[in-house]
Amino acid sequence: MKNKTVTVTDNRTGKKYDFPILEPTIGPDVVDISKFYSDTGMFTFDRGFTSTASCRSKITYIDGGKGKLMYRGYDIAFLATKKSFLETTYLLLHKKLPDKETLKDFSLEVKKRSFIHEGMKKLFDAFPDRAHPMAILAAGVSALSTFYFDHLDIDSPDEYMEMATRVVAKIPTIAALSYRYSQGLPVIYPDMEKGFTENFLYMLRGYPHSHIELKPIEIKALDTIFTLHADHEQNASTTAVRVVGSTHAHPYACVASGISALWGRAHGGANESVIRQLELIGSVENVDKYIAKAKDPNDSFRLMGFGHRVYKNFDPRATILKNIQQELVSELNLDSSLMAIAKKIEDIALSDEYFIERNLYPNIDFYSGIILQALKIPKEMFAVIFVIGRTPGWIAQWIELKEQDSIKIARPRQLYLGPTERTPKY
Ligand code: SDX
Repeated sequence: MKNKTVTVTDNRTGKKYDFPILEPTIGPDVVDISKFYSDTGMFTFDRGFTSTASCRSKITYIDGGKGKLMYRGYDIAFLATKKSFLETTYLLLHKKLPDKETLKDFSLEVKKRSFIHEGMKKLFDAFPDRAHPMAILAAGVSALSTFYFDHLDIDSPDEYMEMATRVVAKIPTIAALSYRYSQGLPVIYPDMEKGFTENFLYMLRGYPHSHIELKPIEIKALDTIFTLHADHEQNASTTAVRVVGSTHAHPYACVASGISALWGRAHGGANESVIRQLELIGSVENVDKYIAKAKDPNDSFRLMGFGHRVYKNFDPRATILKNIQQELVSELNLDSSLMAIAKKIEDIALSDEYFIERNLYPNIDFYSGIILQALKIPKEMFAVIFVIGRTPGWIAQWIELKEQDSIKIARPRQLYLGPTERTPKY
């Protein structure tokens, strides 16, 4: 039986070092280099962690070559088309899909926690008008631990599951409030009669003492977008949540760090950037000029919504959203001019050598923005929508970190290129 190791030879000395191979359920084998420094006296270097597995996980599996995505073994297309976001949330948090009764109870538990402490409104008051909702949301989630300090013991599963349910339940309310406050609009409280996604749209678009028409197709479209964003293995914001979690910080602090990490335009901020970019391009005639800018190594311009660290073929979530876009064109009056520009970009990019040889395909953010705009969700709320979708994934990953025998604090090393010791001249 061949021993499952990888041998590294230092050709300067001829010394050989063996490192064990860890075998996954599915996916690439993993070389355990945790003893690499103690054995060799050298660090490994992996900018952006392109070849590094940071943890063991049973939650989400991605096959970037095949465009495959599964949450706890269920294919994303099944969950996005046959299950609700709340069912997917339960699956991520509790490792199995809920039956009818369980779902009813879970939905009620979430609804009961969807209100926020009235004192939190003073926090929102402190922000200037037009404050970006992501800034308000990150502050609001971090502040939850000051208003809900009765369940902060991260060593008690009951208490951290309570925190998990609270975060899932309160983030949509804080998200809607953050937008209402940034626009000087009256606050709309959650309606216990409404489902999770309908309630969010109601809190975002409603008006006191007046009925608003929320079409079932709008609710379903947004619910699907939440599901498509629910988790995604060890992406940058989930890595932030796990790194902060490794210091034994509680879920509110960890999710607040995930929100901040997600905000960047290379990550969850891309959906807002896609729409702003399509508006900047302005017409189908201008597309060629911007494609040339995206390909120019001396131009920092990048095609937002294109490329992905893992998907080197197609993003299965993008495929699902593209189909939804087609279904919604007439129903929700999607912006046909933006869609025409997006289609032209896609057609050119998918046949252009630059994009093909770099495996740059449309990702989830390339399609989500046009649908969100049709749902009358303001651009500055697009990353917030991503947060609402990703929160169950962040929490599930935090719980998994917590459930491990022991938490090892994340503490990478570096390739030091600074000065050797300098003699101070007195
Ligand atoms: C998300 O990780 C996840 O799972 C994230 C996510 C999730 O669900 O959590 O899927 C959500 O963040 C999706 C990605 C959203 N971001 C964007 O759409 C922003 C635009 N995309 C790029 O910034 C970029 O493609 C990344 C950040 C997504 C991926 O970056 P990588 O894997 O580090 O790739 P790279 O920057 O090393 O680029 C490789 C080459 C470079 O060219 P060369 O130096 O080889 O000549 O491809 C080029 C890059 O210049 N390139 C692009 C490009 N993306 C990469 N060129 C033009 N336009 C782009 N969008």
